[in-house]
Amino acid sequence: VEKPTREEEQNFRYLRDLVANAQKSRIFLTAFELGLFTALGDENKTSAEVAAAIGCDERATDRLMNALCTIGLLRKQDGLFSNTPFTAKYLVRGKPQYLAGYQHFVHLWQTWSTLTDAVRRGRSVVRREPPADADEEWTEAFIAAMHWFAKSRAPALVSMLDLSGVKRVLDIGGGSGAYSMAFVRAKDDLRATVFDLPKVISLTKRYLEAEGAPDRIELVGGNFHTSDFGEGFDLALLSAIIHSNSPQQNRDLVKKVAKALNPGGRIVIQDFIVNEDRTGPPFAAIFALNMLVATEAGDTYTESEVRSWLEEAGFSEIQRQDTPFETTLIIGRKPGV
Ligand SMILES: C[S@@+](CC[C@H](N)C(=O)[O-])C[C@H]1O[C@@H](n2cnc3c(N)ncnc32)[C@H](O)[C@@H]1O
Repeated sequence: VEKPTREEEQNFRYLRDLVANAQKSRIFLTAFELGLFTALGDENKTSAEVAAAIGCDERATDRLMNALCTIGLLRKQDGLFSNTPFTAKYLVRGKPQYLAGYQHFVHLWQTWSTLTDAVRRGRSVVRREPPADADEEWTEAFIAAMHWFAKSRAPALVSMLDLSGVKRVLDIGGGSGAYSMAFVRAKDDLRATVFDLPKVISLTKRYLEAEGAPDRIELVGGNFHTSDFGEGFDLALLSAIIHSNSPQQNRDLVKKVAKALNPGGRIVIQDFIVNEDRTGPPFAAIFALNMLVATEAGDTYTESEVRSWLEEAGFSEIQRQDTPFETTLIIGRKPGV
């Protein structure tokens, strides 16, 4: 039998690592899902004590905890386990910096497991489409995950925009309100409206209170496919929205946004925009599958697709700006001033 070449040997290792990484991911997600880091808190404990606290099998919990040591998420000394300084700070429920949003990735694993069937069928095989028909637990984890990314990105995104003359911002699918908070903090005479599903708006209220947001943010519950946005806005933000929709839904949405804007107003779309051949950038290309497994018609889109929707809705001066965080802004102006 022919001996593998050096390059082939490297590819064998690459494939082996791909599979092993999936196993490591699962180890972390299971520990998170079971509240294992929380059960340890700031203490040293035996695996039997942790198993009792999380209601799991002793031997299996012990093996899981050993593997968590192997991947650097726990420590073990003299038979006692402890969190690392990092996991104690971020993965223990009740700590101020707890990363609650990882529960969203626990849910995503379930949808990603249906990829084979979704490819056969051409769309999600999961019965319910989130967030519209997701339960409270799913929605809370989803918004927590979105908030984690948004709160650090929002001030940077807002600083990339010219806000002169902008008095009213419409934040469509605004989620936790992180972007609206950044807008109102950037300019004293600016008011923002977060528009989101009614069940999300009650969470938005909590995030605004927790972050001590200025009172210049209005909350409106509705469905962006069917509700009217009103009018008089100078800027409309659609951040991480177009990837949930089909091209036709996006055409309709962009037209509604045009109606809601004042003449001269701008639409700002932030999303993971794929290159024209759709093989990169890596996050955007892979995210297309995230939307395939979870939605009827969501996808990641190319710049020329988004441009065509904006042109069709009458926007001009369409520009593209890449952000430092793997997203792209596509900005258009409503003619008139
Ligand atoms: C991926 S999150 C983005 C949140 C935020 N804009 C950001 O960039 O972090 C999508 C948001 O759109 C909202 N959403 C989804 N479908 C909606 C609909 N039909 N009507 C209104 N909001 C919707 C979700 O509840 C969620 O807050």
